[in-house]
Amino acid sequence: MLSNAEYVITYCHMQIRPEKESDWDAVHTVNVSAFETPSEANLVDTLREQAQLVVSLVAEENGEVVGHIMFSPVALPGYPELKIMGLAPMAVLPEHQRQGVGSMLVRAGMGICKQLGFGAMVVLGHPEYYPRFGFSSSPCFGLGCEYQVPEDVFMAMELQPGYLRDAIGTIKYHAAFSSV
Ligand SMILES: CC(C)(COP(=O)(O)OP(=O)(O)OC[C@H]1O[C@@H](n2cnc3c(N)ncnc32)[C@H](O)[C@@H]1OP(=O)(O)O)[C@@H](O)C(=O)NCCC(=O)NCCS
Repeated sequence: MLSNAEYVITYCHMQIRPEKESDWDAVHTVNVSAFETPSEANLVDTLREQAQLVVSLVAEENGEVVGHIMFSPVALPGYPELKIMGLAPMAVLPEHQRQGVGSMLVRAGMGICKQLGFGAMVVLGHPEYYPRFGFSSSPCFGLGCEYQVPEDVFMAMELQPGYLRDAIGTIKYHAAFSSV
């Protein structure tokens, strides 16, 4: 779990920081509130236990956790040297949505993953939302998704220029994602 002060970002009344164990219940609540089912909240709990590494950040406003984002490593078979992060899930309490909280979480997470040495990111999500952060449809990078999804919802972004230049194949998520 990340805990260094260097990963804490403050914007006016909002703090984006690595989660602590004392945030786990609040993080669960944010995910349950934002999604239609508890699957994503349960996924967060499972990844925290089982993934080799997670970057899990909260957005805290006036002492309340109002948003959460998690990143966990994904694999590209045949390219063990590539360090690629999967962004998922992310959630903001419904009453705090459309106020920029999600954007702050994505940007903070991108910076931290880059500092940790990751060269690229993938996300499976709203094609109207993620391109604003630099994500493009993943076939542009020669990457496919292991799940049957429309091409435009699986997106990728390089954190280091040219990182995915020679990569090709199907991205594999942690097994816990297959239960969502
Ligand atoms: C997606 C989510 C995390 C965005 O957080 P947020 O704090 O509302 O996002 P921001 O305020 O930074 O950005 C708001 C922008 O996102 C867009 N947006 C929000 N939800 C969206 C959605 N479901 N599809 C497309 N765009 C969406 C808004 O239209 C708005 O665009 P604008 O700036 O052009 O008006 C939040 O809406 C949420 O928790 N949704 C439910 C859970 C979910 O869908 N998670 C993502 C799974 S891929």
